[in-house]
Amino acid sequence: MKPNYLQTKPQYSAFGRYWMFDPEITFLNHGAFGACPISILEKQYQFRQQLEQQTFHFFVREYEALLDQARQELACFVGANPEELVFVPNATTGINAVLRSLPFSEQDELLTTNHEYNACRNVLEFVAERTNAKIIVADIPFPVESSEQIIERLMEKVSPRTKLVLIDHITSQTGLIFPIQEIIQKLNNLGIDTLIDGAHAPGMLRLNLQEMGATYYTGNCHKWLSAPKGAAFLCVKLNKQSLIRPVTISHGANSTRSDRSRFFLEFDWTGTPDPSTYLCIPEVIQFLGSLLPGGWSE
Ligand SMILES: Cc1ncc(COP(=O)(O)O)c(C=O)c1O
Repeated sequence: MKPNYLQTKPQYSAFGRYWMFDPEITFLNHGAFGACPISILEKQYQFRQQLEQQTFHFFVREYEALLDQARQELACFVGANPEELVFVPNATTGINAVLRSLPFSEQDELLTTNHEYNACRNVLEFVAERTNAKIIVADIPFPVESSEQIIERLMEKVSPRTKLVLIDHITSQTGLIFPIQEIIQKLNNLGIDTLIDGAHAPGMLRLNLQEMGATYYTGNCHKWLSAPKGAAFLCVKLNKQSLIRPVTISHGANSTRSDRSRFFLEFDWTGTPDPSTYLCIPEVIQFLGSLLPGGWSE
């Protein structure tokens, strides 16, 4: 006899004790909002204590070094060049920073797919309206037949006017892993920039962003990686960093410092932050990797 899944609750996992879940519910939707382990929330509280005990000292003397350490460890985890990685509170902000920075014109076409996440599609619409650039949408069927079909449907919409391609690494509503490595390679060969929305990828897929070669890649740490809410990153190729500004302009814009890139100076300070979310990322990578003998791969 077939089990009645509507009435049979799965057995409560032994790992459940590491999280704060209500034992009455079975939480599956880490794609909408991830869940942060209790030990990481405690670590976050420790960072907040450190900050509140000596606020000025923390921000002026400790903040950058701590941020750089978290940046190094996240970059190592996602295979990125740390010089290309900055923290942002969420993938939506990463997408906004890139799209709202670039100088599009009415000659330009911005290519995306019909699977694009609504919030990011809205950013594209906002930018297209302001610049008179044209949005082109590649129709990817669902269910899809093959990776080749995705590549084909996208590439047939590329034209000499295509300025940028915005595409999800993992689609939101349809849960597809797009073959972005092949797509990026084809677009790189044509000299077309790519903005990859990797909101769901960190913690779900093994990433090697340097090998992937996207011009811009943003990913969330607060979904499948289980970091505290408000932890994400944006990677921008070194040769494009002078173009990309944070959504919030602050002290970095006219800083005379030469010990850090303008990219870091601008993105690392967008007004007084609560950096505890970013600072917990190394701890969460370590913690989740320790739960099974095979580490992250398992
Ligand atoms: C594909 C995709 N992009 C972007 C986002 C936005 O993530 P956030 O709300 O953390 O900015 C989501 C959220 O589910 C998503 O699925």
